[in-house]
Amino acid sequence: MAAIVTAEGLHKSFARRGSTSPPVLDGLDLELEEGAVLALLGPNGAGKTTTVRILSTLLRPDAGRATVAGFDVVRDARRVREIISLTGQQVAVDGKQTGAENLTMMGHLAHLPRRVVRDRVAELLTAFDLADAASRRVDTYSGGMRRRLDLAAGLLTRPRIMFLDEPTTGLDPRSRQALWDVVRAVVDEGTSVFLTTQYLEEADRLAQRVALVDGGRVAAEGTPAQLKRQVGEAGVELTFVSPADAGRVAPVLTAATVTAATVDGARVRVPTDGSVAHVRSVLSVVEATGVVPEHWEVRAPTLDDVFLALTGHVGQDRPARSAEVAA
Ligand SMILES: Nc1ncnc2c1ncn2[C@@H]1O[C@H](COP(=O)(O)OP(=O)(O)OP(=O)(O)O)[C@@H](O)[C@H]1O
Ligand SMILES: [Mg+2]
Repeated sequence: MAAIVTAEGLHKSFARRGSTSPPVLDGLDLELEEGAVLALLGPNGAGKTTTVRILSTLLRPDAGRATVAGFDVVRDARRVREIISLTGQQVAVDGKQTGAENLTMMGHLAHLPRRVVRDRVAELLTAFDLADAASRRVDTYSGGMRRRLDLAAGLLTRPRIMFLDEPTTGLDPRSRQALWDVVRAVVDEGTSVFLTTQYLEEADRLAQRVALVDGGRVAAEGTPAQLKRQVGEAGVELTFVSPADAGRVAPVLTAATVTAATVDGARVRVPTDGSVAHVRSVLSVVEATGVVPEHWEVRAPTLDDVFLALTGHVGQDRPARSAEVAA
């Protein structure tokens, strides 16, 4: 399959002259195949939005090269803009207008013929489950509805490539699920999707390939299954009253189960396939030690687990800009 988005050796720094802060992008390479979904996975401040802004022509790289459908994002920026859509991290719709008015206005701004706008707006409002709310001011929409409207706006022109910057951050599980369904439907229609996320689960559900950003580069890249295999599926996590208790239980667990239990302060983690049988056997071993955990749970790997497993450290949490915190 051919690559529809490529980035080679992207560098970007916002540091002032003489400042010692590291560059945001420091030789980032990636590739999105036509018709596929690529998830760029990373914590706050990893450079996800910066990458999306470069690929969508809003920002110039200091060095390196990126292409979209064969067009250079710097030299052929206008051509690139014609075939992409960008749904940013912050909702871009106008609260004072209704959902239908927002979409109609954007259709006109995109120079679509009036009739096309009318049909397409109706079609999108239905597809995104917003038909009933179409004539309500967006001010009255929930966060999930706004996000859906934002996505709908990005689809007015049937882009070949959609950039989605953290499309589900801040949404509840149901809205998140609904949004994933929409993205899948868009991909089924042939659109390629470049998405950023902080959620391993989201990358897993939507993307054929995942690229993990760390230190301004792609630190690991592969299918979600490949990455998860390196991270481990899930873990039984037990929190004890003290690190001493955790230290007493962990070796017993390691001896009783094939995989090693890891200790982090008063917490012990044992990898699990999540089956009832395995979780029960872990809990039985703990019970037999006589040390009572304060709390236990079966937890899917988080972004921190992924970083720890694939980069050897927890994803550094560079402070986000205040506007992003509010979003
Ligand atoms: N225009 C700018 N001027 C100065 N610094 C910037 C600018 N844009 C981004 N940065 C800095 O670059 C780093 C990466 O920011 P970026 O927005 O790309 O991260 P992100 O991965 O999208 O994070 P988040 O998950 O919080 O959205 C941050 O430290 C940020 O403060
Ligand atoms: Mg961002």
